[in-house]
Amino acid sequence: MRLQDKVIIITGAAHHIGQAYALRCAQEGAKLVICDIRDCGNTAEMCIEAGAEVLALHTDVANEEDTLEMARKAVERFGRIDCIVNNAGIYDGLTARSMLEVDLDEWDRVMDVNVKGIFLCSRAVIPYMREQGGGKIINIGSSIWFFGGSGIPHYVASKAAVTGLTRALARELGADNIKVNTIAPGGTNSGAVVTRDERAPQTPPPSPNVLGRREVSEDLTGTVVFLASEDSDYITGQMLTVNGGAAMY
Ligand SMILES: NC(=O)c1ccc[n+]([C@@H]2O[C@H](COP(=O)([O-])OP(=O)(O)OC[C@H]3O[C@@H](n4cnc5c(N)ncnc54)[C@H](O)[C@@H]3O)[C@@H](O)[C@H]2O)c1
Repeated sequence: MRLQDKVIIITGAAHHIGQAYALRCAQEGAKLVICDIRDCGNTAEMCIEAGAEVLALHTDVANEEDTLEMARKAVERFGRIDCIVNNAGIYDGLTARSMLEVDLDEWDRVMDVNVKGIFLCSRAVIPYMREQGGGKIINIGSSIWFFGGSGIPHYVASKAAVTGLTRALARELGADNIKVNTIAPGGTNSGAVVTRDERAPQTPPPSPNVLGRREVSEDLTGTVVFLASEDSDYITGQMLTVNGGAAMY
């Protein structure tokens, strides 16, 4: 087991890719804090069945109070925080539209959750990581900004921002032995659905991945285990693309 007794927070863990991260970390021996604005009951059951100790929390990552409570409760329950996987994001349920029709409130919410949410969650755990002598922050970005995507410019911009934020935090936190990295998945068959408005821009499709099959959530979990484990202790500020070679960054 590669994560034996490590305390790992996973945001956006109620279903889809976040649930897969949680289950894999449970199978690798981690103690888990799983957070979402949705009910994390199913994920908790799966992880407990896999042998993990689990704390499930209702946390809105865009709400500072919630993120501070998340970190405090994690330490209250497990005594430390070894790693946070900043997976929560707004993706499922978006509609691709002409840029003239993107709703500005939706723009703000996507940025609030996908970018500020990572900043707030990181800020909440950093004091504990500093005090214990180090930790790992894994930010979930995307490969979509290598292609530009189409119809969801707020989402594309937010995922490019994740990489910039990762680099800024890695630089600031290196002296505290806190490593900060991004995972950039490709288009993943997670259950999340983005629909296209009929007036959405028609653009050439991005290059297909070179492995000849669609990416699934489980293709991403090994990279989380690697970045959360000691095997990656000298890696920080990096972006690992896990996209079957669709973009070679
Ligand atoms: N599916 C893909 O093709 C793909 C590709 C690249 C990156 N990603 C990223 O991977 C992550 C997971 O993607 P997914 O496919 O499972 O999509 P998803 O939209 O189903 O998952 C996002 C999760 O975050 C939760 N969430 C949303 N707002 C929240 C908030 N304010 N506070 C806490 N939790 C919140 C949702 O309830 C959901 O469980 C996201 O960050 C997504 O952007 C997905």
